Amino acid sequence: MGHVDVDAFDSLLGDEGQALLSALRNYDPARELATATRLRRDHPAALVSAALAQAQLRQRAVPKFGAEDAHRMYFTPNGVEQSTRTSVAAYRADRLAGFGVRSVADLCCGIGGDAIAMARAGLSVLAVDRDPLTCAVARANADALGLSQLIEVRCADVTGIDTSSYDAVFVDPARRGGRGRVFDPEAYSPPLSWAIEAARTTPRAALKIAPGIPHEAVPEDAEAEWISDQGNVKEAVLWFGTARPGMRRATLLPTGHSLLGAQLPDPEPGPVGRWLYEPDGAVIRAHLVADVAARIGGRLIDPTIAYITTDELRPTPYATAYEITDVLPFNLKKLRALLREREVGIATIKKRGSAIEPEHLRKKLRLEGGNACTILLTRSAGAPTMLLGHPAS
Ligand SMILES: C[S@@+](CC[C@H](N)C(=O)[O-])C[C@H]1O[C@@H](n2cnc3c(N)ncnc32)[C@H](O)[C@@H]1O
Repeated sequence: MGHVDVDAFDSLLGDEGQALLSALRNYDPARELATATRLRRDHPAALVSAALAQAQLRQRAVPKFGAEDAHRMYFTPNGVEQSTRTSVAAYRADRLAGFGVRSVADLCCGIGGDAIAMARAGLSVLAVDRDPLTCAVARANADALGLSQLIEVRCADVTGIDTSSYDAVFVDPARRGGRGRVFDPEAYSPPLSWAIEAARTTPRAALKIAPGIPHEAVPEDAEAEWISDQGNVKEAVLWFGTARPGMRRATLLPTGHSLLGAQLPDPEPGPVGRWLYEPDGAVIRAHLVADVAARIGGRLIDPTIAYITTDELRPTPYATAYEITDVLPFNLKKLRALLREREVGIATIKKRGSAIEPEHLRKKLRLEGGNACTILLTRSAGAPTMLLGHPAS
C-alpha cells in the first residue's frame, strides 16, 4: 500500500503530472466528475485521480501557506491538516535563528511546514518522519521551493536519531489518533516525555504542543509560549535553552507583540467601568491576564472571569476594547425590549462565564433594525450579567 501511494505521488512529479497540476490550479471541486471525465480522455486515469486529489489539497492549503507557496507545494490529507501555518512557523524559525542556531534536527517533519520555514531562516535542517509518503512529499516540497540544499529528508523513526551534532532540536509530535485530536501529551506520537528528553540533548530546542496543555505539565527548565494568529490561538511551544526557564509568554501574530509574564497576582475585582477588554486567547492560555491588567491599570469584573475593565480607555495590543453603555443583571425580556427600542438588527454576542448559547439567544431575540450592538454575557460580582456596547475603534 505504502509503495503504491509513493509511486502514485512520484508520477505527479513527471512532465505529464506537472502539466495536469497546472491545468487544475483553479479548478472547481464541485465539477470534479466532469473535469475527471474530460481529462481521462487524454491522460491515464490513475494520474488524473492523483492530480485531482493533489489540486484539492493545494486549495485547502492556501489559508495556511498562501496561494503562491500552496500551489507549488505538495500535501497529504493528514499533512495539510497537521502542518504549521507559515506565519507561526516563520516566527518560530526566526526565534531559533536569533539564538544563533545554524543547524536543527526537525523530528517529525510531516510534509515540511516547519522545515521550510527554518530553511528560509537560513538553518540547515535534518527533517525526519517515519511515513514514506510523507517523506516523499517533504522532499518534493524542498525541491519545489528551491530549498533542497538546506533540507535533508530522512525516513526513519525519530527515536533512533542521534541529535548530538545539531545546534537545536525541533519536535512537532503527531497529536491526532484514530479518534480525532489527542489531549493527553503522553499519547502524542512520540510522547511528550520523549520529546522533552530529546530537547535536552542539544543546546536549544523548541517543542510544538497543543495550546490546552496544563501548566503543570510544563517542565521547570522550559519557557512556555502561547502563539495566536489573527486572534486565534494556534499552539504552545516549549523552549529549552532560552535563558528564561519558568517564563510564560504570549505572542500575537501577525504583529509579533510578545508579552512576558511577571508572575503577578490577579488584580482586585471591581465594578464594570466604561471600557471592557477581552484579552487575546494567547494571553488567557498563558495565564497573563493579570499582566495585561497591570499594563492598563485595569481591574477584573469578577475574580473568575478574564474580562478587564477601566474607566479611561487604555488601548493595548493584547486585548480588544469595548465601550460599555449598559450593565444589567441578565434578563431575556429586558434585553429584548432594550434592543427593540434601539432598533438593533446586528448583534455580536460574546460570552465568558455564562452557560447561555449565543446562537440560541440570538434566535430568541428576534433582532430587527439597522443598528449594531455587542452583547457580552458574563458574570460580575458572582451574578449573571449582560453588558451592552460596541468595539472601541
Ligand atoms: C504534526 S505532524 C508534523 C507537521 C510538521 N511540523 C509540519 O509543519 O508540516 C507529525 C508527524 O510526526 C510523524 N511521526 C509520529 N511519530 C513518529 C516517530 N516515532 N518517528 C517519526 N515520525 C513520527 C507523523 O508521521 C507525522 O507526519
